[in-house]
Amino acid sequence: MDLKMAGKVAIVTGGVQGIGRAVVETLLSEGVKVVIADRNAEKGAAVEKEFKQSGQQVAFIAAEMIKPDDIEAMVQFAVDTFGSLDYAVNAAGYAIPNMKLVDVKYDDLVQMVMVDAVGVYLCCQYEIKQMLKQDTPCAIVNFSGNSGIVGSSAGLAGYSMSKHGVVGLTRSAALEYARTNVRVNAVCPGVTETEAVAGTRKSFPEIYQQMVDRIPIGRTGKPEEIAKAVTFLLSDASGYTTGAAFVLDGGHTAA
Ligand SMILES: NC(=O)c1ccc[n+]([C@@H]2O[C@H](COP(=O)([O-])OP(=O)(O)OC[C@H]3O[C@@H](n4cnc5c(N)ncnc54)[C@H](O)[C@@H]3O)[C@@H](O)[C@H]2O)c1
Repeated sequence: MDLKMAGKVAIVTGGVQGIGRAVVETLLSEGVKVVIADRNAEKGAAVEKEFKQSGQQVAFIAAEMIKPDDIEAMVQFAVDTFGSLDYAVNAAGYAIPNMKLVDVKYDDLVQMVMVDAVGVYLCCQYEIKQMLKQDTPCAIVNFSGNSGIVGSSAGLAGYSMSKHGVVGLTRSAALEYARTNVRVNAVCPGVTETEAVAGTRKSFPEIYQQMVDRIPIGRTGKPEEIAKAVTFLLSDASGYTTGAAFVLDGGHTAA
């Protein structure tokens, strides 16, 4: 299927590694110009160099996704560098597994909720503000997770709360802007083999194994599998879809 995305401009937050990076690669393969935004400036510069060496249209900006000034600057950077903002993928986020609800420290909880929920809200705010200035079809994909659909017993209550919040934010933003040029959807991946999950596998092997054992399809997800769904949700091929929470979890939430 020709998704007709060539020449469009995207921002991918959390794009230097993991699923975000796979999204960057997939969008580049469709001819999209991509701004990668991430708090990891060192790795970001290396990734930008790597893609540019292969002739790709990418630009990196260091940004902390809980700082409104950074997020506003990120959107302006995309417009200044590539001329518009057609797509945004808000993938920056993290989970600390094994954080039992009764033990979690206030500062750790607030920091995580700020990045995983409030940061996504702020990204939508500045991205939509820019998209409304354009009269072309624009789309946003927010990263929730299957813990945004069901609960988890792996010490992930704060994470799950944030990811449920992302689904609520996505549905509300989609409805608020349904009659404009902006569509807003969410993806809800299950366990996907990224650097973050490799950390869980190493530090909490039992929790990792429990999570894998619960996947009906019998395996974890690959970042490219999530990236393809994100790309479809950004493209006009999904033009009738807004406010969706698209689950990709090997059947976990169906069980
Ligand atoms: N991997 C999974 O199993 C899984 C499952 C469900 C949902 N998700 C979600 O998918 C997204 C990507 O996950 P991943 O596994 O690829 O993670 P990852 O840790 O491999 O990569 C996340 C990237 O986001 C960046 N980042 C984190 N906090 C940031 C902040 N405050 N400001 C700017 N950049 C920040 C990191 O530097 C990193 O480059 C996350 O939102 C995660 O919650 C992942």
